[in-house]
Amino acid sequence: MTKKPRGAIRLAQAPDAQAILDIYAPYITDTAITFVSTLPTVEEIQKTMVDIKKRYPYLVCTIGDEVVGFAYANRARPHEAYRWNAELSVYIDAGYQGRGIATALYTALFQILKAQGFCNLYAVITLPNDPSIALHKHFGFKELATHRADGYKMGAWRDVLWMLYRVEGVASPEVHGPPTPLSKLRPNEIETALSMATALLSGAQ
Ligand SMILES: CC(C)(COP(=O)(O)OP(=O)(O)OC[C@H]1O[C@@H](n2cnc3c(N)ncnc32)[C@H](O)[C@@H]1OP(=O)(O)O)[C@@H](O)C(=O)NCCC(=O)NCCS
Repeated sequence: MTKKPRGAIRLAQAPDAQAILDIYAPYITDTAITFVSTLPTVEEIQKTMVDIKKRYPYLVCTIGDEVVGFAYANRARPHEAYRWNAELSVYIDAGYQGRGIATALYTALFQILKAQGFCNLYAVITLPNDPSIALHKHFGFKELATHRADGYKMGAWRDVLWMLYRVEGVASPEVHGPPTPLSKLRPNEIETALSMATALLSGAQ
């Protein structure tokens, strides 16, 4: 693998939407890695970002001024009983893969999600995708099930692997209630997670 770059992990902001779209677009148009088939507009990315950030972390990795990757958590399923669950997404610019960027993004994402009180973190992976499976195993995810021919994209039925990371030692929902929305988390908890992840990137020079 190539030398890891200098960079920073921070919360995504509205002006990052164009760069996020630029990273995401080839996966939409040229692959079945995502089952999204229609390119969103920059405004749609911004709206989704605002919605997600009310409850979940939405992070970017920057190198200099350039956004080179993003990761976020989102609602897994709508019912109240699933409030302790989140589904993760991570996309790295093709030119920046294999440099520890997803690792840094996930390190911060995990720390924030744990501080919020989430219990079940899911990765939903269209097969084949060895890099994504390896990344998630690296972070302790276990394979749950493969849904055969679960989605049809780019002229073929696609198998989808569900992986789960179960957060150990989570407090009882009766005592602590549902996860704290991101907007209500103490800023220093977010800052600590972002600094730790940023140090991972810069410490790897
Ligand atoms: C999967 C993806 C997010 C990994 O991002 P990345 O920044 O390249 O990953 P990292 O450099 O942090 O590597 C983290 C771990 O993932 C694994 N990994 C990453 N790339 C890999 C590859 N090409 N082959 C095998 N394992 C790989 C390794 O276990 C690695 O840990 P190690 O370096 O200690 O061995 C990236 O390849 C990507 O954006 N792919 C396209 C989008 C995608 O598939 N997103 C996930 C949808 S479910």
